[in-house]
Amino acid sequence: MLELKGIDAGYAGFQALFGVSMRVDAGEAVAVIGSNGAGKTTLLRVVSGLLAPTAGTMTMQGTDLIATPPHKVIETGIAHVPESRRLFPRLSVEDNLRMGAFIPAARAKFHQRLEYVYALFPRLKERRTQLAGTMSGGEQQMCAIARALMSEPKLVLLDEPSMGLAPVIVSQVFDLVRRIRNDGYTVLIVEQNVRQVLKVVDRAYLLEVGRMKASGRAEELAASDEIRKAYMGL
Ligand SMILES: Nc1ncnc2c1ncn2[C@@H]1O[C@H](COP(=O)(O)OP(=O)(O)OP(=O)(O)O)[C@@H](O)[C@H]1O
Ligand SMILES: [Mg+2]
Repeated sequence: MLELKGIDAGYAGFQALFGVSMRVDAGEAVAVIGSNGAGKTTLLRVVSGLLAPTAGTMTMQGTDLIATPPHKVIETGIAHVPESRRLFPRLSVEDNLRMGAFIPAARAKFHQRLEYVYALFPRLKERRTQLAGTMSGGEQQMCAIARALMSEPKLVLLDEPSMGLAPVIVSQVFDLVRRIRNDGYTVLIVEQNVRQVLKVVDRAYLLEVGRMKASGRAEELAASDEIRKAYMGL
């Protein structure tokens, strides 16, 4: 579904990704794990068109993403749940969801999609008129994921959904990831919470200072001594 080959990317005078190759097949959940500053957010920003790579190729279901203007990437079926959620705190839950349905195809189906995400996340329906900024961290993450689902995406990009949440809420957030995956979405998630993310994905890649260092089935990586020592504190 999504394929990256030899991607270089960075910021003025600073290269953050070096020859990154990876793929995500339809129906899979794939994680990119790595520590602070490894380039995980940069990678997702490249995939969603927010940052243009300086080398390499990138396709989504055969469409050349590099030739696709940033505002058209969402129409290829990619939805991005950014780091730290970026909700509109002074808008209601429902108005935040409306913002996720701004593309013409989604706008026409707004009510249908709204019913769909409310069925998937009944808590949001109960809180539909509450200001997003007054919800708990876990609820805000739920709202951010639901907003991404409003565009009826095929591939959902999740940037550290567990960040800043209490441990008990973190497991609820990983449950949400499992739920959307079981509902048929393909998922690409970047995480520092290696132990928990490896329980909800099929495969993972390890990114270290901008380079892919390892990849494999989630259970293989979770059993690897190197990864257990460096990333799981075991
Ligand atoms: N706008 C920017 N301008 C310059 N350098 C940046 C910018 N954004 C990120 N970087 C640098 O790029 C590198 C990768 O950052 P990135 O945010 O992709 O890491 P990350 O893996 O998402 O880290 P974290 O887990 O802390 O979110 C870092 O060295 C960072 O300082
Ligand atoms: Mg990041």
